[in-house]
Amino acid sequence: MANSRENFIAGKWSPPKSDKRFERENPATGETIGSFPDSGPDDVADAVAAAAEAYPRWRATPAPRRAEILFRAAEMMLARKEELSRDVTIEMGKVLKEARGDVQEAIDMTYFVAGEGRRMFGQVVPSELPEKFAMAVRQPHGIVAAITPWNFPLAIPCWKLMPALIAGNTVVFKPSPYSPLSAFNLVRILEEAGLSPGAVNLVFGEDDAGAALVRDPRVAMVSFTGSLEVGREIAAYCGAAGKRVHLEMGGKNAIIVLDDADVDLAIEGAVWSAFGTSGQRCTAASRMIVHEGVLEGFTQKLVSRAASLRLGDGLDEATEVGPVVNKPALEKIQGYMEIGRKEGAVVAVGGSRAAGNGLERGYFFQPTVFTEVQPRMRIAQEEIFGPVTDVIPFSGLDEAVMINNDVPYGLVASVYTRDVSKAFKAMEQISTGIVYINAGTIGAEVQLPFGGTRGTGNGHREAGTAALDSYSEWKTVYIDYSGRLQKAQIDK
Ligand code: UN1
Repeated sequence: MANSRENFIAGKWSPPKSDKRFERENPATGETIGSFPDSGPDDVADAVAAAAEAYPRWRATPAPRRAEILFRAAEMMLARKEELSRDVTIEMGKVLKEARGDVQEAIDMTYFVAGEGRRMFGQVVPSELPEKFAMAVRQPHGIVAAITPWNFPLAIPCWKLMPALIAGNTVVFKPSPYSPLSAFNLVRILEEAGLSPGAVNLVFGEDDAGAALVRDPRVAMVSFTGSLEVGREIAAYCGAAGKRVHLEMGGKNAIIVLDDADVDLAIEGAVWSAFGTSGQRCTAASRMIVHEGVLEGFTQKLVSRAASLRLGDGLDEATEVGPVVNKPALEKIQGYMEIGRKEGAVVAVGGSRAAGNGLERGYFFQPTVFTEVQPRMRIAQEEIFGPVTDVIPFSGLDEAVMINNDVPYGLVASVYTRDVSKAFKAMEQISTGIVYINAGTIGAEVQLPFGGTRGTGNGHREAGTAALDSYSEWKTVYIDYSGRLQKAQIDK
């Protein structure tokens, strides 16, 4: 049964109770890639029950043993990297080279987290009293709901599932309906790697399944990556219900180009960060904040590079920019063209749906650069999530930093300069969660914290050992072996 694309509950592949299914199409070609369960609240309840049943056993499994399963899963992903990558491209459109990066990031995260199976350091500190031992150890929350987006269909599920599992939680995984195939592939690998039944349960579905999962009282923690609007709703619900919540939402990331920068290097970073993954990364650079002294040269180069990018099916190795994920995404991007023009910005290149050479079969949008952009325009404040970037001029570093920080999100910023003092000053004053110097905004590595300030998140981080702080909480333990009553703060 492992090949039927069904929900995975308590170690079994099973169809949804209602028999309702949804179809997914390849955004580059319109071809159907398969049908998946459109799960309802009953299916979600079964998945949560399975996670609850499995929890005591999984929690009691020593972390190094849990890690062995993760190491095996990473090995299997590595062995199947090419087919996994093709499935990423087929279901959400990113070009094959980037799909391989997505899979590699999943592998990297899984190895990294598996290593934590033998670390997961706690704290041992001196007690203020004699013959007393003081330490803090990590404990799992219980059942974690992992609600993941389509833009990194393999990497982001691994960012959530792997640290949740290593810390001893069991998981109900609800992937985006726009990337069900990679979710299926991942869970099948975990099954083959020997994960105990119920430790990870997969429910496919649309909004109903997600809402039912968040609201199930047995779910102790929700980890969500997606839009600001949905994230805020989840946060409000979890706040009222007293659940732990980890949120990763949007970005409105900028590349700041100072007048002493290597402009050609900055252009490389700008093109990669603005148009890579068709601009559909939380980390995409959708603003270029450029010093007046280099504005003209930078803008000309950016525009000509954007115009020359090759659009097409991501499976073709020559393609540089794939489609956007679906029709609503395309329409949202088109809507911002209108909004930008009305606000007085100029479309210097792109601005329309791409056509010709079969592109009309898919959801392709031309790489677009807006000029004459003011920092407070909607196109410079709101996340468009497409191959669209703005050029905003500035004249002093303080002004650039102010423009950078003055958006509702705070994920990434990048600064191009040859002046080490300016680099440090900018690094200190920029208020995002991630800062790059002389590199674009995309390409965070798994061994460091990932996440952002303001509307991007809720203070938690993914990746690195920081992820463990999201998926576990501290238990502080005092052991008094003096054999007498000792009073902290009182006995001196
Ligand atoms: C995302 O878009 O949500 O830093 C994740 C990067 C990737 C992860 C992006 N490593 O661009």
